[in-house]
Amino acid sequence: MPQEFSPTVTVADDAAAAARAAAEIIAGVVRDDPRACLGLATGGTMIPVYAELAAMVARGEVSLAQVSSFNLDEYVGLPPDHPQSYRHFMNLHLAGPAGMDPARMEVPSGIAADAGAEAARYEAALAARGPVALQLLGLGGNGHIGFNEPGSDSDSRTRVVTLDARTVADNARFFGPGEEVPRRAISMGVGTILSARRILLVATGAGKAGAVRAMLQGPVGPDCPASFLRLHPAAQVVLDRAAAG
Ligand code: F6R
Repeated sequence: MPQEFSPTVTVADDAAAAARAAAEIIAGVVRDDPRACLGLATGGTMIPVYAELAAMVARGEVSLAQVSSFNLDEYVGLPPDHPQSYRHFMNLHLAGPAGMDPARMEVPSGIAADAGAEAARYEAALAARGPVALQLLGLGGNGHIGFNEPGSDSDSRTRVVTLDARTVADNARFFGPGEEVPRRAISMGVGTILSARRILLVATGAGKAGAVRAMLQGPVGPDCPASFLRLHPAAQVVLDRAAAG
């Protein structure tokens, strides 16, 4: 049996306070090493986190100008300028507002002719540059991290994944009516995520409470991929009260 650790859990009053706490942790890593390589996430939970970071940059409290990053995932089939692509999300919410250099922000290509080869290239690029100093994660309502859906194992690496029906339904809110929600993505694996020096997972809202409970108190295993964070010696979880419920 691999050794299990207890992630440090912080419960903030609300989602805004959780975002401030998460941004402060990220800024701390960058103050320690202004050229740090960060692992970054997208999704609704990250929008206020990145807004807080951008506000800290504007106040001169931290600079992200020298930072480099690797994102967790990208939808297969979406070009970088598609409004729902994760590359576009990063440019919109972080690169521009927080002064990060888009050329130093790695996101898998959603339009590579061979998605499997692109996943392998991404894993190799991360291994060559990494380990990342801090991997930021959101949490899926079904316990996914990155797009490692239930059934993903702890040694999985960057690969092409098929999204769960629940994930497709959850993500439909970002797409227009009648617009097709991608069903495949390139995602870092659980093993890729666990290679980070530190991990910070942020979850807010009552819709995440079940997944939070499974992550922290359920069995460690592929039914809840986020439970594998308990195999990492330096994992931290920031919740709001609703997600901690
Ligand atoms: C995003 C990602 C996903 C999201 C998760 C939560 O890059 O990998 O794991 O973090 O689906 O999404 P939100 O924050 O929209 O609830």
